[in-house]
Amino acid sequence: MEHKILKSFPNDFLWGSASAAYQVEGAPFEDGKKASVWDNFVRIPGKTFKGTNGDVAVDHYHRYKEDVALMKELGLKSYRFSIAWSRILPDGRGEVNQGGLKFYEDLIDELITNGIEPIVTLYHWDLPQALQDLYGGWESREVIADFVNYSEILFNAFKGKVKYWVSLNEQNVFTNQGWVTATHPPGKKNLKLFYQVNHHANLANAAVINKFHDMKMPGQIGPSFAYTPQYAIDSNPMNVLAAENAEEMYSHFWIDVYIYGEYPIVALAHLREQGLAPEFADGDAELLKSAHPDFLGVNYYQTATNAWNPVDGGVGATEFNTSGKKGTTKESGVPGLHKKVQNPFIERTNWDWEIDPEGLRIALRRITSRYRIPVMITENGLGEYDKLEDGKVHDEYRIAYLESHVKAIKEAITDGATVIGYHTWSYTDLLSWLNGYQKRYGFVYVDQDESMEGSLKRIPKDSYYWYQQIIETNAEEL
Ligand code: BG6
Repeated sequence: MEHKILKSFPNDFLWGSASAAYQVEGAPFEDGKKASVWDNFVRIPGKTFKGTNGDVAVDHYHRYKEDVALMKELGLKSYRFSIAWSRILPDGRGEVNQGGLKFYEDLIDELITNGIEPIVTLYHWDLPQALQDLYGGWESREVIADFVNYSEILFNAFKGKVKYWVSLNEQNVFTNQGWVTATHPPGKKNLKLFYQVNHHANLANAAVINKFHDMKMPGQIGPSFAYTPQYAIDSNPMNVLAAENAEEMYSHFWIDVYIYGEYPIVALAHLREQGLAPEFADGDAELLKSAHPDFLGVNYYQTATNAWNPVDGGVGATEFNTSGKKGTTKESGVPGLHKKVQNPFIERTNWDWEIDPEGLRIALRRITSRYRIPVMITENGLGEYDKLEDGKVHDEYRIAYLESHVKAIKEAITDGATVIGYHTWSYTDLLSWLNGYQKRYGFVYVDQDESMEGSLKRIPKDSYYWYQQIIETNAEEL
């Protein structure tokens, strides 16, 4: 539908920005913290770009006051960040580490004092190493009780202060990279295990949502899903079918469980045929059905376009572009399901991520139609090379990216979607898990690079001032 007049963003819209503990904090062993799986994984040669790690990251642990001061000047309404489980419970369970809890208490108080709504992600991938060693982390059902126990500590500590909680960040990404592509910890390639691990994560997500509601916590909770809407390359029915397969296996497969508490029919039939379906224990089906997230967090970066990919002679998995050399991504797919092809209508970043603002509108419409749930955009942004020139960063390409995506949200709201907030990825520049420091996302430039010896100086980019205007005007001009 083409709208002549767009609806306004709600007055209490959460104009925010986001980060994750491992990518910004540094201080991996300070004040009682012990290793997470990421503290160790980054030390395996060849796993990250030029061996980069988050030992210092952008030193947010020591500079959070300076970071919050700049947020205030920017006018941020909300800041989404994650809590490192191994700061709170260094061994994943047992004694609470007061030193770790204090850091987040201070950060949350600082945000509230400055009029910024804290949005806490309970899990952004940094599982305590102790739990990986003890029972294989997400591979064991034991993780469900430990995750709920850890979350309950935070619910009690921040009840009334934190009103928005994200349960799991991108369950679809951390399970896939951890157990299919072996690019995240624990670095395995085992499809059967992947579906089982993912099932445990679904149960943990449901259990923590129920705990939140049982405790009558003031506020809202929901998972953040990395949603990549799937397109067909053309109207050839086989290509349309390939796109349907991808949407079923990569989107419905997670969101249906979050919202309906059931795996989607076609996906489950396919997994049963392949002998890959997760094993259900007594009570699993009931637990999944009983949990109701208050919102769906959506991390939106791009769409994907599909063509048919036959079982015989079809293409399989390939590696991601982590080099920042445009055009180096090869075709990849799953024979018998789909293959991902280039969309001729869409521009790409230097890391070959597709730039598609209309895809965000499509994403919001699909979610609204199928799930009827409010959405919080928990991530959206552009990772690019930035250049510091005379103390300034002229990132007009980021402004263009963000502005077109904000406009797409406004259109989706006019279409009937309920969107409660928009969090850009990311607030400051930070460590990209596999791409080092050169792939920058922030409003605030940080002098840090692959040498990991930068001065850590903070410099607001042009996009910072653009966002300031957007927030001030509630994007009325768009
Ligand atoms: C999301 C994650 O997948 O995308 C973030 O939640 C991540 O943690 C972001 O940094 C961008 O991805 P990348 O690979 O460009 O850092």
